[in-house]
Amino acid sequence: MMPLLLRDPHLSKHALITGITGQDGSHLAEHLLSLGYKVHGIVRRVALEVPDQRFGRIQHLLDRVTLHAASLESYPSIFHVISHIDFDECYHLAAQSFVAESFTDGFSTMNTNINGTHYMLAALRELRPRCRFYFAGSSEMFGKVRETPQKETTPFYPRSPYGISKVAGFELTRNYRESYGMFACSGMLFNHEGPRRGFEFVTRKITSTVAKIKAGLANELKLGNLDAQRDWGHAADYVRAMHLMLQQDEPDDYVVATGETHTVREFCELAFSEAGLDYKDYVKVDERLLRPAEVDLLVGDASKARKQLGWQPTYAFRDLVREMVQNDMRLIAEPHAAHAVH
Ligand code: NAP
Ligand code: GDD
Repeated sequence: MMPLLLRDPHLSKHALITGITGQDGSHLAEHLLSLGYKVHGIVRRVALEVPDQRFGRIQHLLDRVTLHAASLESYPSIFHVISHIDFDECYHLAAQSFVAESFTDGFSTMNTNINGTHYMLAALRELRPRCRFYFAGSSEMFGKVRETPQKETTPFYPRSPYGISKVAGFELTRNYRESYGMFACSGMLFNHEGPRRGFEFVTRKITSTVAKIKAGLANELKLGNLDAQRDWGHAADYVRAMHLMLQQDEPDDYVVATGETHTVREFCELAFSEAGLDYKDYVKVDERLLRPAEVDLLVGDASKARKQLGWQPTYAFRDLVREMVQNDMRLIAEPHAAHAVH
């Protein structure tokens, strides 16, 4: 018997997002809803659920999105969800996304990121072969960079289990496109941040600690490599590029970046100065936070996305830092304030 397919005939397009509770998933859901999409999201079940926390980033969207339980570790759970809903586009964002953690537990990172992507592609090929698929590739794939700036043709040289897992996901996506004619694209997205960023990533670690120091709740910030350079954009800008990739005539892969690079030290300098503080008085280097292998310099050339997708970022680096610091200071002043909506 054919499974029941849930589709609202009055809405134009339907999308499925994995990782909808994450930073990008929440921005993308918001963007697609604003375009009139019906949005489905995959969330994993946890035994001790604290909905306010785990759904914090999508709290304001909960009455407009439909959530389905599945785990990237389980092919049957993914198959089950995909067989019960109908959708035109699938944005596969779920992953173990923290590079440092991938050194601690490379096995679960590989399992989630590589097998999870393979499960998604295999289930789509079987059940929704005409669905358009987006894979969340990363500038970490360029790793120990072979050329600067990095573009679509730059060879990969990943430097962490996370980077390796993203190269595998990228190659799987390309292989399904070429082998089975699926509309499958990868975004090679450079770092993107914002007030919804997880607290363990360096930008949010800096801005949340700046806010604590300003409020007298902390007196130092321990960091690892201050000289690492990153091309930092804003997540709200980057999810627009994901959507544009799936609206093209042909599937393809695109670099998404600002084209500007800054050191972690520069981020600190600006974030502390935003609160009227001098980073040199508070930042301490803790060697335990250095990575076994570092990605020293990332800066992307997004000319192809700019030209073919008509995409461009709207946030300047300084505005991104300011927004994150202001948001974290507000969260301390008003601890029950909802997650920032920017
Ligand atoms: P994030 O905030 O860490 O969100 C990750 C999402 O994946 C969360 O919703 C998480 O769900 C979900 N997830 C993790 N393991 C799962 C599993 N086993 N089963 C089901 N769901 C699982 O990441 P992000 O910053 O939004 O990034 C989105 C994607 O883009 C990731 O694939 C990341 O690797 C990639 N990327 C990010 C950047 C960036 O700078 N942000 C750049 C390039 C590529 P829970 O809520 O249950 O934890
Ligand atoms: N997290 C963290 N914590 N990073 C630190 C610290 C610290 O205390 N001190 C220095 N860093 C340096 C890291 O060594 C790295 O060079 C840089 O800050 C950025 O680290 P993260 O913010 O953790 O991000 P990432 O660049 O490793 O990875 C992010 O961007 C990738 C795209 O390039 C993640 O979002 C990945 O999922 C994404 O693919």
